[in-house]
Amino acid sequence: MLEKIYKTNSEEETYSFGQALGQILSQGDVLALQGDLGAGKTTLTHGIARGLGIETPVSSPSFTLLFEHPIGTRGMSLYHFDAYRLEDEMEWYDAGFMDYFNDSGVAVIEWADRIKNVLPENTLWLFIESNLSEPKQRKFRLLISEGLSEKVFVLEKLAAWEI
Ligand SMILES: Nc1ncnc2c1ncn2[C@@H]1O[C@H](COP(=O)(O)OP(=O)(O)OP(=O)(O)O)[C@@H](O)[C@H]1O
Ligand SMILES: [Mg+2]
Repeated sequence: MLEKIYKTNSEEETYSFGQALGQILSQGDVLALQGDLGAGKTTLTHGIARGLGIETPVSSPSFTLLFEHPIGTRGMSLYHFDAYRLEDEMEWYDAGFMDYFNDSGVAVIEWADRIKNVLPENTLWLFIESNLSEPKQRKFRLLISEGLSEKVFVLEKLAAWEI
């Protein structure tokens, strides 16, 4: 397991960081986001959409569980989930969401800790932490499993935010 730590100091910077992250994601990747209310999960995901070349206006899936973005210029869809309102993993199965872990796109899941038992083995985890004394600062801890070792070669795209 490889761990990298990144930092941003504004909402705009988190969007840019997300955009760079989107550029290193590829077909079939699953990115699990964990962080409190207002941590910046949705902001980051909007940046990821941009990084995947998706230019249509983006919505938040807060009330829908899933917002499926159209295919972007890199030929991939983005499946943006928000698991906040899920009671348990059975609801995830029942909704047919397992089918979205496939090679036609990238899945990004807010509140992924709610459904951690259904996530694929090679899920990328990103933990977002706020800092009470620095309200605009966010720290991002990215965990990359052995099975995703090819990602190591593209991580330099995130170097600007690394600490
Ligand atoms: N460095 C930062 N990165 C991202 N957002 C920031 C940052 N600093 C302050 N903010 C503020 O934090 C909020 C982040 O909101 P966002 O909807 O992205 O969070 P979220 O993690 O998706 O929340 P929720 O759990 O409700 O879905 C915004 O109001 C934004 O202005
Ligand atoms: Mg959100």
